[in-house]
Amino acid sequence: MAQAVFSFVGGTTGRWQITHMAAVIGAPLEAVSRLDILNVALASLPNGAAWMLRGETDDAQYMHPVERAALAALQPPLDRAEATCAALIPIKKATRWWALTQHERRTIFEEQAHHMEIGMQYLPAVARRLHYCRDLNTPFDFLTWFEYAPEHADAFEVLTSRLRATEEWGYMEREIDIRLTRL
Ligand code: HEM
Repeated sequence: MAQAVFSFVGGTTGRWQITHMAAVIGAPLEAVSRLDILNVALASLPNGAAWMLRGETDDAQYMHPVERAALAALQPPLDRAEATCAALIPIKKATRWWALTQHERRTIFEEQAHHMEIGMQYLPAVARRLHYCRDLNTPFDFLTWFEYAPEHADAFEVLTSRLRATEEWGYMEREIDIRLTRL
């Protein structure tokens, strides 16, 4: 996958209005009213913004070829007209997660937590993009972004509750749940 860099800017401008912000685990982020998403690596915080998080798309680490094909067949694109709801969920995993081998992490991620198996049940209602930022000098390892239509908002709540009840979530050190609607 070609890498693409995105900057998520929390402040008073941008296409997305923030409806809810909560720290699920760990320290909160400063509450803001709007989010702007830019397809560039901003070097510094724009004037008037409270925070900026950067992440880049990259090759998946744990997916087997069959899973990759199944996901590609089902996953919808971002920016669908009807998908006016979104979630930005920045996540940092604990040091003991990163101390595991790739094989051990994959085992927890899929064979125990069934992350992809659960997630795929919510496609094509939910569109997603995963951004990696562990190496970008930010307070998070991942910025997860999801878009869905209002009629799938309840299903999205069920999805997040199911994932948060898994073994994988025992390795979370910080998780912020930010919900948005498109202006
Ligand atoms: C919409 C349904 C979902 C699907 C289909 C899905 C699928 C995936 C896939 C395929 C990966 C990458 C696996 C790899 O690197 O090979 C992934 C990673 C990840 N997902 Fe999901 N996911 C979904 C929902 C969620 C939700 C709701 C959250 C947060 C609450 C989340 C958080 C993450 C995180 C943090 C990672 C990175 C894990 C790591 O590399 O340690 N996902 N997901």
